Amino acid sequence: MRIVLLGAPGAGKGTQCKRIVEKYGLLHLSSGDILRQERAAGSTLGQKAQKYMDSGALVPDEVIVEMMAGVIKKAPQAGFVLDGFPRTVNQAEKLDKSLACNDKKIDAILNLKVDDQMVAQRITGRRSCPKCGAVYHVENLRPKVEGICDKDGTKLTQRPDDSLEVVTNRLKAYHQQTEPVVDYYKKNNTVYDIDADKDIDEVSALLFKNLSALAEGRGN
Ligand code: AP5
Repeated sequence: MRIVLLGAPGAGKGTQCKRIVEKYGLLHLSSGDILRQERAAGSTLGQKAQKYMDSGALVPDEVIVEMMAGVIKKAPQAGFVLDGFPRTVNQAEKLDKSLACNDKKIDAILNLKVDDQMVAQRITGRRSCPKCGAVYHVENLRPKVEGICDKDGTKLTQRPDDSLEVVTNRLKAYHQQTEPVVDYYKKNNTVYDIDADKDIDEVSALLFKNLSALAEGRGN
């Protein structure tokens, strides 16, 4: 399966992708995670992306398309789930073209729909483990010991772009540049609109229902 998860910042893309890859054995390709790794490594790509990420703007298409083409090429036969890419219609067109060169296409888009008011609460309360990448929330998904990762005991941290001010810009970029991607895909692909205001397990159940139907060839 080749799946795209779309949704506003904090819609739960990363949280749900981790569950999807566990259940279906797909590769999780998160453009945001890859950019953060590049930044941590101090690469040229990471340096180019820094000012855009810190202000909540999108990194230029040409940088992202080349980066994602490289990782998609190496994906296993079982397939992948894209998290945070494509985020503009131009990125989606480029992705479609490169897949079509190998007679492939995106099988389904899972569009996580969440209210803007919910986004601020989720994003400002998010904490993550710098070592293993596990994601928590100070209210919705607490670690067993406050501020400490359940899996490896590392001190949890907050992403620098998770301030209220930057979240406002990220939401603006989402509405202006990423929402049109949903309409783009609705023309030729299967798009599942998912109510992501529900709690984490309920959202997973909705996603699994659609993905299982798709895997069995019953997707609409
Ligand atoms: P990226 O890392 O992709 O950030 P994002 O899209 O803004 O998404 P988030 O990671 O903030 O949220 P999420 O939906 O994964 O939510 P999560 O599951 O963690 O991108 C960062 C930056 O990189 C961009 O701003 C841009 O600059 C750049 N970039 C990346 N890709 C790009 C591209 N293609 N083109 C150009 N630039 C690009 O959940 C959030 C919190 O809520 C967690 O604490 C979680 O525990 C909690 N939570 C999740 N689901 C629920 C639920 N159902 N109920 C209650 N709490 C929940």
